[in-house]
Amino acid sequence: MHSIVILNPKGGCGKSTLAVNLAGYFAQLGKRVALADCDPQRSSSDWLALRPESEPTIIPAGFSNGRIKVAARTEILIIDTPAAIHGQRLAGFVKLGQSLVIPMLPSPIDIRAAERFIEELYSLRHLINRKVRLASVANRVREDTLAAARLDVYLDRIKLPTGQKLPYITVLRASQNYIRAAEKGLSIFEFAPAKTTYDREQWKPLLRWLGG
Ligand SMILES: Nc1ncnc2c1ncn2[C@@H]1O[C@H](COP(=O)(O)OP(=O)(O)OP(=O)(O)O)[C@@H](O)[C@H]1O
Ligand SMILES: [Mg+2]
Repeated sequence: MHSIVILNPKGGCGKSTLAVNLAGYFAQLGKRVALADCDPQRSSSDWLALRPESEPTIIPAGFSNGRIKVAARTEILIIDTPAAIHGQRLAGFVKLGQSLVIPMLPSPIDIRAAERFIEELYSLRHLINRKVRLASVANRVREDTLAAARLDVYLDRIKLPTGQKLPYITVLRASQNYIRAAEKGLSIFEFAPAKTTYDREQWKPLLRWLGG
C-alpha cells in the first residue's frame, strides 16, 4: 500500500482539494483507494458523501487516536490532515506517510507560515531521514502575479532536514473547475474533460512523482 499524506498546518492552502483530487485520480485509474479524513471539519468526508455511486469507489478510512484503519487490499491511502497541527501530532502524521505532499499558497503570509512549518520539519529530522519522500506543490496560483513569482523563488531554495532540496513539483492554477467538480463529489479527472485539460496537465508532474 502506498500512503500519501497531504500536510501543511496553514489553513486553507488546499490540503483537502489535493486529497480528494488524488483520490479521484487513482480511483478512476482502477486502483483500490481509501481516503482518511483526519480533520474534524470533514471537508473530504463531505466530498465523499456527494460522490455519485456511478463513479469509481473510494473507501472511507477510519481515523481515531492517531491511527488509521483501512480496508483490506487497499492500494492507495490518501490522508487529509487538519490545519494548525504541530509537535507530536505533526510527527504522528509524518510517520503515517510514505509520500508527503505539502500544498502552499503564493501569498506572503502563507509563504512565511510555510517557512515556519519547514523549520518545524527540521525538528523531525529523525523521521524524515527515514523513508518518507516530501514534495511541495504551489496551489491556487494566479499565474504571472508577483506573489506567484515570489513563491517560485522561495520554493526553489527550500532545503530539507537531510540537506537535499525540497522538490517543488508543480503549480496548480486557481480555477473554478476544482470548486465545480467538488460540488459534485468529483475530481477534475472525472469532470468536464474539455474545461479541465489545462488543470489535468498541471497535475502530471505530481502524478509522476507519486508513481501514478
Ligand atoms: N486550485 C484551486 N483553485 C480554486 N480554488 C481552490 C483551489 N484549491 C483550493 N481551492 C479552494 O480553496 C478553499 C480551501 O481549500 P481546501 O479546503 O482544500 O484547503 P485546506 O488546506 O484543506 O483547508 P483547511 O486547512 O481548512 O483544511 C476551498 O474553498 C477550495 O475549494
Ligand atoms: Mg481541509
